[in-house]
Amino acid sequence: MDHPSATADAAASSGAASTSAAAPCAVEFEHVSFAFDDHVILRDVSFRVPTGGMTVILGASGTGKSTVLKLILGLLRPDAGTILVNGQRVDQMPEHDLLQLRGDVGMLFQETALFDSLTVAENVGYRLYEEMHTPIDEADARVAEVLGFVGLADLQKRMPSELSGGQRRRVAIARAIASRPSLLLFDDPTTGLDPVTATSVDDEVVKLRDLENVTSILVTHQIRDAYYVATHEAVKHNGDLDIVPAGEEKTAHTRFLVLHDTRIYFEGTANELLASEDAFLKEFLFMTLPPW
Ligand SMILES: Nc1ncnc2c1ncn2[C@@H]1O[C@H](COP(=O)(O)OP(=O)(O)O)[C@@H](O)[C@H]1O
Ligand SMILES: [Mg+2]
Repeated sequence: MDHPSATADAAASSGAASTSAAAPCAVEFEHVSFAFDDHVILRDVSFRVPTGGMTVILGASGTGKSTVLKLILGLLRPDAGTILVNGQRVDQMPEHDLLQLRGDVGMLFQETALFDSLTVAENVGYRLYEEMHTPIDEADARVAEVLGFVGLADLQKRMPSELSGGQRRRVAIARAIASRPSLLLFDDPTTGLDPVTATSVDDEVVKLRDLENVTSILVTHQIRDAYYVATHEAVKHNGDLDIVPAGEEKTAHTRFLVLHDTRIYFEGTANELLASEDAFLKEFLFMTLPPW
């Protein structure tokens, strides 16, 4: 038998409301229900997002994927159940504490809202300059670093209107990671992009997962993007960075949750999902499977 009280005591005495050492969790939903009036979105939903690595939440449009992210951020409150983010309960957290918690979460919204009147660098560094009051040299260096990471080092002085759709999405990724959040949320990051541009954004998601020490949740309705991200990895050799097909073991590290009909309908790896004999999943996948 384990000693649950000992674990609880240890967690309490550490001061940090973090999760137990055995199974650190970035996000935990326990019996969460949520409805917009009488439109039930989630019914008694439980799942965990382990710290480190990536969890994909897949589901058709309107199933509640963005709602799940808003619940994680405390922008919406559940009707029942418990939601923990980095070990802290957010479902009843006061607004002031939520602001602090959100400071440790990077969010890439579905509609990439860059400030039109600010340069690329100002957009990326906004939180550092305006909210965190990071020393200017340090902030400038971090902005250059993250723009280099997404391959846009030369575009610092540009205005958003001078960028392509894919570049704008990459600026938004740079902005989301600039403050070094421990948790990154991507809300349908490739929506509205052509397949080639979508793949370039997917590559950034792969790089973040593999090269930065960050937990991420990738929400998407596109199995193509989710599968691409799961089956590729970022590798460095001789100073160069490549995105290459990943082996089965690496692929299995990205966990998939399929949201359907107010619940988590499937949980497993990309390959388990593709091999599923479930009628709904086959139909869902069939509509989006190769040839893409
Ligand atoms: N503020 C809101 N008020 C009422 N209904 C909403 C609101 N936001 C979203 N919905 C509805 O909730 C459902 C889930 O929305 P959403 O989480 O945005 O789905 P997804 O991101 O999976 O496409 C949709 O049917 C949507 O129309
Ligand atoms: Mg959505």
